[in-house]
Amino acid sequence: MDQTTAIIDLDLPGPRISRHVYGHFAEHLGRCIYGGFFVGEDSDVPNERGIRTDVVEALRALRIPNLRWPGGCFADDYHWRDGIGPRDQRPRMVNSHWGDVVEDNSFGTHEFMDLCELLGTDAYISGNVGSGSVAEMSEWIEYLTRADDSPMADLRRRNGRDEPWKVPFFGIGNEAWGCGGNLRVEQFASLARQYSTYVRNHAGNEVYRIAAGASDADLHWTEVLMQSFDALDRPEEADAPAGPFQAVSLHYYTMTGPWADKGSATEFSEDEWYLALERARYMDQLLTRHGQVMDHYDPHRRVGLVVDEWGTWWNVEPGTNPGFLYQQNTLRDALVASVHLDAFHRHAERVVMANIAQTVNVLQAMLLTDPESGALVRTPSYHVFEMNTGHHDADSLEVHLQGVPTRTGEKSELPLVSASASTRGGTALVSLTNLDAQAGRTVVLDLRGRDVVGHSARVLSAPGLATHNTPEAPDAVAPVALDAVRPHDRGLEVTLPAHSYVTVSLTLA
Ligand code: AHR
Repeated sequence: MDQTTAIIDLDLPGPRISRHVYGHFAEHLGRCIYGGFFVGEDSDVPNERGIRTDVVEALRALRIPNLRWPGGCFADDYHWRDGIGPRDQRPRMVNSHWGDVVEDNSFGTHEFMDLCELLGTDAYISGNVGSGSVAEMSEWIEYLTRADDSPMADLRRRNGRDEPWKVPFFGIGNEAWGCGGNLRVEQFASLARQYSTYVRNHAGNEVYRIAAGASDADLHWTEVLMQSFDALDRPEEADAPAGPFQAVSLHYYTMTGPWADKGSATEFSEDEWYLALERARYMDQLLTRHGQVMDHYDPHRRVGLVVDEWGTWWNVEPGTNPGFLYQQNTLRDALVASVHLDAFHRHAERVVMANIAQTVNVLQAMLLTDPESGALVRTPSYHVFEMNTGHHDADSLEVHLQGVPTRTGEKSELPLVSASASTRGGTALVSLTNLDAQAGRTVVLDLRGRDVVGHSARVLSAPGLATHNTPEAPDAVAPVALDAVRPHDRGLEVTLPAHSYVTVSLTLA
């Protein structure tokens, strides 16, 4: 295979890439909340009202658009009233999903909303359908968002918060087919309609309600949820939001083994490198297939698809609590992320939001903190998110790839180059991932439709496939400027190092 070409029509913008596909997820799981986001006011770790200052600072650079909380599986065990009022009087509970530890509820609604304000991010609250009541969910949204002297607004004020918060996103259950109640989809679809009805819009706060959706390729789940809407195909309502919920979710995790032995985060063969990337690439197919089901019932695309859990799920780091899901994060995780993000960009017409699991110390984290020293490390995945901030709310551009080498994988031919692009105003951003474990690759950017008057590029790579950052070597995998970009008679020519992620920023005339 001689040359790879990426043809991009810079003057043909496609659907907008919602910044919300760069969303995050914080569950009461292991050291995500406690030790990760929240250390308490008395900690030696610098904090603001108990929230780690270094974590906030690192995440602000990602401009994280929304944060999902309190779970995951934990959400369907969570009763929000346990997490309000004086901390020393809050009831305890057992976190039965994650380590069977006792949760003291010291991080609750006020602490979470405080965190969102510090991060400058939108709240995505995940409501309890599995073990909670309709009234409980209804009162939570009233507590959060009501402005007047309603009972819940009064209670909030008594707990120290006068102004209502904004809560744009609300999850109706989580994994209802599993930890969220082991329900049949027909049963859940009815509950989703019912619970959503009582998540009301108070005081001008418009809620976008997201019903717990399918796992992997469970198209039946998506289909039944779509059938539960009333006539989505009426042309006269094409621009109206769907109801009573407005989106369905999808969960998909990347691993190289079965659930019982998902693979090591750091000790893997070249074959496992490719297997992980092939399975990451599968997200594109999932979005196509779920999207086709949705298109059938919803031709005007009024219902959003929200991938509110995705990422790598490896065996826990040796010596750590198996219930805490703490794993390392290598260059391979970074490329799994870039391949997913390309898929979200390509499906911008339907994918309105996504949340990588999870932000700190759990699964494919952005940040890892050392439990002893408190040191904070930015992971390779963090850097992909930072390099991609230019895609937030930009218009997608189609990238037609030619001459891409492939590798025969487990179930498909894996293209060894992944790409996506977007444009906003006088700029464009091109993302290029070279999945090849051994060889570099030159890509010609055939740039059409607008003149390019300037460019710069950055690269994320490392000597080894499993290179990762530690407190001792925090920048072993960190982006640097890429000089290997040359003018070409079709536009530009970029040389991607082996196993690398590259972004090319273009200034347009
Ligand atoms: O992200 C970890 C867990 O994975 C979540 O709690 C659950 O929703 C999923 O199974």
